[in-house]
Amino acid sequence: MKTLNNLCLAICARQRHMAILFTVLIAQFLLLSLTATAQRQVINLKNWEFSHDKESWEQVQIPHDWAISGPFDKKWDLQTVRIEQNGEKVATEKSGRSGSLPWIGKGYYKCTVRSSQFMVQDAVAMLQFDGAMSEPTVYVNGKKAGYWAYGYNAFRLDVTDLLKSGDNLIEVELQNLEESSRWYPGAGLYRPVELVLTPKTHIDPWATSVRTMGLKEGVDNHGRTEPQATVAYETKIVAPAGDVACVVEVLNDKGFMEAGSHFDLPADGVIKTELTLSKPNLWSPESPYLYKVRTRLFRNHKIIDETITNLGVRTVSVSKEGGFQLNGVTRKIQGVCLHHDLGPLGAAINKAALIRQVKLMKEMGCDAIRTSHNMPSTWQMDVCDSLGMMVMAESFDMWIYPKCKNGYARFFKEWAEKDITNLVLNHRNHPSIVMWSIGNEIPEQGDKNAGVEWSTRLQNLCHELDPTRPVTQGLDRADNAIASGVMGLMDVPGINYRTQKYDKAFRTTGHGFILGSETASTVSSRGAYKLPYVASNRAVYKDGQCSAYETEWCPWSNLPEVDFEDMDDLPYTIGQFVWTGIDYLGEPTPYDEYWPSRSSYFGICDLAGLPKDRYYLYRSVWNKKEHTLHVAPHWNWGKDMIGKVVPVQVFSDYDEAELFVNGKSQGRVKKNKEVNRDAQGNQITGTEAANPNRGNWDAKENTGNSPNLDRYRLRWMNVKYEPGEIKVVAYDKNGEEAMTKIVRTAGEPSELSLTCDRPIIKADGEDLCYVTVSMTDKDGNFCPLADDQLTFEVEGEGEFKCVCNGDATSLEPFTKPTMKLFNGQLVVTVKSTTKSGKMTLKVRRPATSQKTKKQAFVSNEIESSIEITTK
Ligand code: GAL
Repeated sequence: MKTLNNLCLAICARQRHMAILFTVLIAQFLLLSLTATAQRQVINLKNWEFSHDKESWEQVQIPHDWAISGPFDKKWDLQTVRIEQNGEKVATEKSGRSGSLPWIGKGYYKCTVRSSQFMVQDAVAMLQFDGAMSEPTVYVNGKKAGYWAYGYNAFRLDVTDLLKSGDNLIEVELQNLEESSRWYPGAGLYRPVELVLTPKTHIDPWATSVRTMGLKEGVDNHGRTEPQATVAYETKIVAPAGDVACVVEVLNDKGFMEAGSHFDLPADGVIKTELTLSKPNLWSPESPYLYKVRTRLFRNHKIIDETITNLGVRTVSVSKEGGFQLNGVTRKIQGVCLHHDLGPLGAAINKAALIRQVKLMKEMGCDAIRTSHNMPSTWQMDVCDSLGMMVMAESFDMWIYPKCKNGYARFFKEWAEKDITNLVLNHRNHPSIVMWSIGNEIPEQGDKNAGVEWSTRLQNLCHELDPTRPVTQGLDRADNAIASGVMGLMDVPGINYRTQKYDKAFRTTGHGFILGSETASTVSSRGAYKLPYVASNRAVYKDGQCSAYETEWCPWSNLPEVDFEDMDDLPYTIGQFVWTGIDYLGEPTPYDEYWPSRSSYFGICDLAGLPKDRYYLYRSVWNKKEHTLHVAPHWNWGKDMIGKVVPVQVFSDYDEAELFVNGKSQGRVKKNKEVNRDAQGNQITGTEAANPNRGNWDAKENTGNSPNLDRYRLRWMNVKYEPGEIKVVAYDKNGEEAMTKIVRTAGEPSELSLTCDRPIIKADGEDLCYVTVSMTDKDGNFCPLADDQLTFEVEGEGEFKCVCNGDATSLEPFTKPTMKLFNGQLVVTVKSTTKSGKMTLKVRRPATSQKTKKQAFVSNEIESSIEITTK
């Protein structure tokens, strides 16, 4: 050990010496090159023309989703199918499965780039797509430049030989087939497209990898021990030339260099080095510190190319002893799955919308996102890097066996390896990504041949391109995947639902840990409390909503409490990814056959991003920094409900609370921390005994899925309704009053309250501000049933972008400036112009008059406005 330490000291001292030498060399280079400019040009191709028939064209800006404006219609992608994963035995008509929006068909985009915008001579030109939905064929000046099959992946086309001086026409043809997706895929150039021009000898970001190899105790210049990180840097310079030199530097967040190396280019262009960072600032969700790695190429002391790669210094590992570790510290992943759509924006990616999503999830205590079930966008990964959100980056929802008629199975054999390659090369330098996923609920998981072969091939490919991250896949048929060997061969055995299989998987795979790769699938609608209060896996209602009491789930799934128990009671669980953090377009289970219903009920937040009650349940368990106290339901029940039972439920991190109805105590309730045991007193969480019917579609009630709800909720099940107020007082561990919350019966809707996520946004023509609109009575009490039709108008430096009320059954278009409130609320999104200044959003409920036989109702106009600054 001593010799090892001495050796380590000697190496560190040598490295220090080298670092000083490099610093001097680099300083010389920089001095000589102060006036030189890098020649790399990245042209963001924003302005395009779009057409469905190549005859009539409209001007659009990308990211663009041609289908999001609707109209919603049952006829789009109407399917008569049997959803196998849901255990269905007969085919039935499914209307909202992929969102009921017009995304099917062909779409054409064209744009012109003038050569005066770039240097043609000697340039290498690459067209870079972050994704195009779908099957893009690209033409440059009339000649085919390339094609990519999968709509979710990034791809690059070398168009050097196709460009000319003067105008260059770039055209993209897309086609979306019916029955190709289990959710809304979006349509069009929904992610950025860039033209990247470089000199012949240049740096290829996809050939560059920067990874933290380890954290260790090192020695500083004065011989004192200090924490150090070793960062491995590798790149392969394209067309290396003998007269070109390369400098690699790590800059801290102030722009100062912390480590660097200088190289003459070898003949093969390959550069490999290890850089040591002293006292590194580590990246984590709690402290997402980013360094920048700058690579520069010099010829005659002039910079000829330069790239910047973000570096988050952090290690990731999974092991029997430590479970999942980030920077050597064990943590259980508190994750959510997210589909790629951004609600009313559709699939068209937008940074402000992504930032809002990540902030919303973080505030709940969530620390990870699974990009289900496909490649994420680069912008999303940038946001996760900088805000601190771990990511499981996924790839496929199907392999060879099709889950839907025209899905990715058409391409898998030919394209799978190309797709995994692009996924990993495009994203491997994002510190936020902690795991790759090669598939979701792949039917081949039980196949000893195809399942084992492809799992091995794709996992090996991930390892080859990125040796630092573990690989998983979401397995929903645990018994089959164990028997075939597929579960055992993955770095991380991931089980979707069926938590009763955790124990068996833990005992058989030998990994020593299990990931809940997809959990919960609880269903609810914001604000729609259903009486009587029931816990059920089959409840459906005439209005197409699910209960906001958060007590409903599907035959294969469960309530959040089951997963909380698994995480709390089973030391070998390493975390979970809840299905889903936010509602998405399509897959309106349990209303797959109900019209109109066109978006999901699974979200912890609704499609508008408004928290459902479940948000506070997760927050009460996950957010360890702030207290949570949330009371449900609303207290606006009709006269006919007076004296009838309306259960009251509280989500809080406090273990005890007292409820008062109009001042009368309804008793003090304490959480019941009993763990799940069998008759002999053995703990049975994660076993078949605990959940005998989970995943058994024939079982009427999935009783095993009704866990001990009182372990995580405080409930008063026999409260009799009387209008007025309910007040809950939470008590801390010492029995002291800690927090209070009051919900009042609201009077007539008379005011609109507007709050925005950010009062100042960028005047860049893209930034968004989200304004939540809530109806209140004259005293400011929230009106939980208001469903008034509102209109929106923007004046000044901004424009109306879209609106969403989170109602899965609404057929009102997102992009028209009018919509009904859903259970008292909706969210309006406004966009900046490119001029700085102010914009005002005016929200109006027009005056209405209604006459019934007995009475005439007149309601006054209500108007409210909010000012947003753009700069
Ligand atoms: C899972 C599947 C998800 C979604 C979910 C709904 O089986 O992986 O994509 O369909 O069920 O519960």
